[in-house]
Amino acid sequence: MTVSGGNGNGNGRQPKPRVFLSGILPAPALQPLQEGEFDCAWWEGEGNLPREVLRREAAGADGLVTFLNDRVDEELLNLAPRLKIVANVAVGYDNFDLAAATRRGILLTNTPGVLTEATADLTFGLLLAAARRFGEGRRLLDSGRWQAWYPLLLAGQELNGATLGIVGLGRIGQAVARRALAFGMKIAYAGRRPVAGAARFGAEFRPLDELLRTADFVSLHCPLTPQTFHLIGRKEIAMMKPTAVLVNTSRGAVVDQGALVEALGAGRIFAAGLDVFEEEPLAPEHPLLSLPNVVCTPHLGSATHSTRLGMARLAVENLVRGLAGERPPNLLNPEVFDR
Ligand code: DGY
Repeated sequence: MTVSGGNGNGNGRQPKPRVFLSGILPAPALQPLQEGEFDCAWWEGEGNLPREVLRREAAGADGLVTFLNDRVDEELLNLAPRLKIVANVAVGYDNFDLAAATRRGILLTNTPGVLTEATADLTFGLLLAAARRFGEGRRLLDSGRWQAWYPLLLAGQELNGATLGIVGLGRIGQAVARRALAFGMKIAYAGRRPVAGAARFGAEFRPLDELLRTADFVSLHCPLTPQTFHLIGRKEIAMMKPTAVLVNTSRGAVVDQGALVEALGAGRIFAAGLDVFEEEPLAPEHPLLSLPNVVCTPHLGSATHSTRLGMARLAVENLVRGLAGERPPNLLNPEVFDR
């Protein structure tokens, strides 16, 4: 049995709202669900929640708590006549068909803010690890082939004085910029429009092509949308400096992964630090994992105990408020509520 919970009704009173969670959340976050009158179930199998389980559970649910791999699309929504709210445990919501949910009057929410600092930390960790070749250093030690210190042994790229190009200077982009300033970096950024407050970081707004040509490091912090799908493709990678480091902690499909593998393999850019991939989980035999100049983590941007608890709490609060007929704090489609 991989779906647990479900305390049903069984007492002749009004049926409790049925809530399904895509996985196990940190226990303290569940308190409002335990205290409230909910019939709650969750997936506790291994791996991502299978689509057929989500379809089956959505069919009887009033509320869903979803993870970033659960596609909430037209097909799923058509199966869910009672559904009132879907609360994502993520700030990104490219797994949602916002228009389809809005047409059906279903509230959608995400978890912004609480994960900003943790994600910026991981971004900076990847940037440092890729620039200073942590992975290659560790593998050299493991191999027993480290024979001597010499001046160019695993020489990497210097952060101090270098320009960090941030694509998407939103909350997380700005938190990365703050860290970069402390490392003596200069900041430039690209995005849909100049950002008020960018001057605080001395950050200069540049068109994406110019940013790619001039930055020493490029870090991606834009949401995945039809406009940003493969934003960094073969042509864009070719614009980057041969010494450049690319960092992606946003969504895998913002980068054309095939083009990136080719460029890294051919040494067209220096290195990449990647937390997100076009297909997740990344297959162990994926070529990215055998390239020496790539540092990868398995989508860990927000993975600290306190941040993951904060995200879970926010998602549950959104859900409970929505089911109570109140406006959830992180509503993505306010027009549904304001109708
Ligand atoms: C998000 O929240 O969108 C991250 O990718 C997971 O923390």
